Formats: sequence, C-alpha cells, structure tokens
Amino acid sequence: MAFTLPELPYAHDALAPYMGEETLQLHHGKHHQTYVTNLNNLIAGTDLENKSLEEIVVASAKDPAKAGIFNNAGQHWNHNLFWRTMKKGGGGKPGGELLKRIEHDFGAYETFAEQFKQAGVTQFGSGWAWLSLDGDKLKVSKTPNGSNPLVDGATPLLGVDVWEHAYYLDYRNRRPDYLSAFLNHLVDWEAVEAELTKASS
Ligand code: FE2
Repeated sequence: MAFTLPELPYAHDALAPYMGEETLQLHHGKHHQTYVTNLNNLIAGTDLENKSLEEIVVASAKDPAKAGIFNNAGQHWNHNLFWRTMKKGGGGKPGGELLKRIEHDFGAYETFAEQFKQAGVTQFGSGWAWLSLDGDKLKVSKTPNGSNPLVDGATPLLGVDVWEHAYYLDYRNRRPDYLSAFLNHLVDWEAVEAELTKASS
C-alpha cells in the first residue's frame, strides 16, 4: 500500500509568526511530499512494500544497502509526528500526566526544556531533537538526518526538525530562536500526552 502525505491539522498560516505560511507550504507540500514519493518509489516491488512505516524504518536502519529507503521512511515518520504535535497557540508548560512524568524524570519542566533545546542546537547539520519514551523513562536525544529513536527501541513523543528547511525562512541562521519559539508557542502538549498514552499501552 502506497504511503500518502497527511493533511496538516491546521491552515498554512495558522502557526505564524512562529512558523510562517511559506515555510509550511514548502516544508509540508514540497519537502515532506518528496520523502513520501521517494519512499513509495524505492519500496515498490521489494519485500518492504507491504510493511508498516515503523517496520520499514527499523528494518532499513542497519542495512547500508537500504540507506535511501531508511532516509525517506524516517523523514516520513518524523514529519507525521512533527505536524500532529504542533498547534496554533501551543507551547509553554504542559500539564496533566505528561508534566508529572517530565518532573519525575527530569526534575523540572525547565530542565527538560533546556536539554531539549540544547539537543537541537548541538545537532551538527541536519537532524532532529527528541523527547522519547525509552522503557518507562522519558529521555531527550538527537539524531542526524532522517533517523529517529525508533531505531534504538524507544518511542518518540515529540520531535523538532532542525533541518534548515524547517526554520531558515522565518529565523535565518538563528536555530536557538526557532527552538525557543517551538517550545514556547507551537508544541501541542495534549497531542504529546496522547503519544505518551499510545506508547504506554
Ligand atoms: Fe523537515
């Protein structure tokens, strides 16, 4: 079954000024679409054609011959999570069970936020910073290019895209400002808690 580009759960201009309309049009409509198209072309007629996206990511991760499939499958998975964990008027401190878990595993929300931001700032070149569930513990990490924590057996709950295509139109070279805006104005923490619930069940 061919993979398809998911609809954005908001209008292209909904996240402005923190993530502008042109950024969303290009990032979702061009970059993400290209990953989906490439993935479908690369798996057609192979033993991965009828596997789930997660199965394709994990199966291709450690096979250098499948690097193209891995890159595009990873990016499709990563962007799906990225779009569904942002919203207009998001960001700030989460609440509920998610906040309890963050405070239990990091000590305080502010400690988590600093670690998450640092992971994004220090990811050299393209990649992602993550909040994942690893066993029963929340963890911050970073990965290069299209990789993600699924490869290491953890479940990503929130990922921020630090490829330049994610922020250059809105922030130029100021990646730290983009990461601050993501945490303070864009994250849909209810959606992240839903990911935690799904990962825990
Ligand atoms: Fe991206």
